Amino acid sequence: MKKLVVANWKMYGQPAMARQLAAAVVQQAAQTSAASVVMCPPAILVADIAKSLDNQMVAVGGQDCHADAEGAHTGDISAVMLKDAGCSHVIVGHSERRTNHGETSAQVNAKAARAIVSGLIPIICIGETLAEREKGEAEAVVGAQLRQSIPDSAAQGNFVLAYEPVWAIGSGKTPTTDDIRQMHRYIVSVASERTGVAPAAVAVLYGGSVKAANAKDIMATEAVAGVLVGGASLKADEFCSIIAAA
Ligand code: 13P
Repeated sequence: MKKLVVANWKMYGQPAMARQLAAAVVQQAAQTSAASVVMCPPAILVADIAKSLDNQMVAVGGQDCHADAEGAHTGDISAVMLKDAGCSHVIVGHSERRTNHGETSAQVNAKAARAIVSGLIPIICIGETLAEREKGEAEAVVGAQLRQSIPDSAAQGNFVLAYEPVWAIGSGKTPTTDDIRQMHRYIVSVASERTGVAPAAVAVLYGGSVKAANAKDIMATEAVAGVLVGGASLKADEFCSIIAAA
């Protein structure tokens, strides 16, 4: 299976830098047939990036969408708007949304369901905090997030999961590949049970301090379908090396 390499730009990027970065990524993606690449810029740059890509080498995704089809929701973006702007994917339930915007797994579930009916593939994020890991609760927390966040409409090929331990995001710290393997196996088994999708067809990305130096080992780990990259996705050289590592 091709590795999926997803860039989450978070709230970074201006148009000129974004176009330059996108062009470099397209060039790299064209040389790396073992990877599918998705770039998730801030919503205001989505249409511009999608237009500038104008080919099938690199896909575009949103970083969040509203659970409703439309409505009086000031400041929000709908899944259909993302789709119309050229997106194929949307990240939902990122820990920064769960923490900073108080999003619950039930809300993440509704967003993922809306993404699916709108023709987008939701990248559903889950992950434990350091305190939860230290208490030995990592699997219990992630398991509960999964059961509550994966919508009933999830089926083979229409959703992706991303395991992002909160303590690894932006910290330079990563779990060992043994820890990643163990958690990804667990996620696959829970998601398979929840959706009826065969374990081999459940795609789980790893995210949290992925960079060029560790991408190869992480992507070679059993049950890792690809990576979700934050900070390192904003640097063309670094992100291109991660794509090459696939
Ligand atoms: P970093 O790669 O900056 O740790 O961020 C990970 C992340 O949150 C991707 O969604």
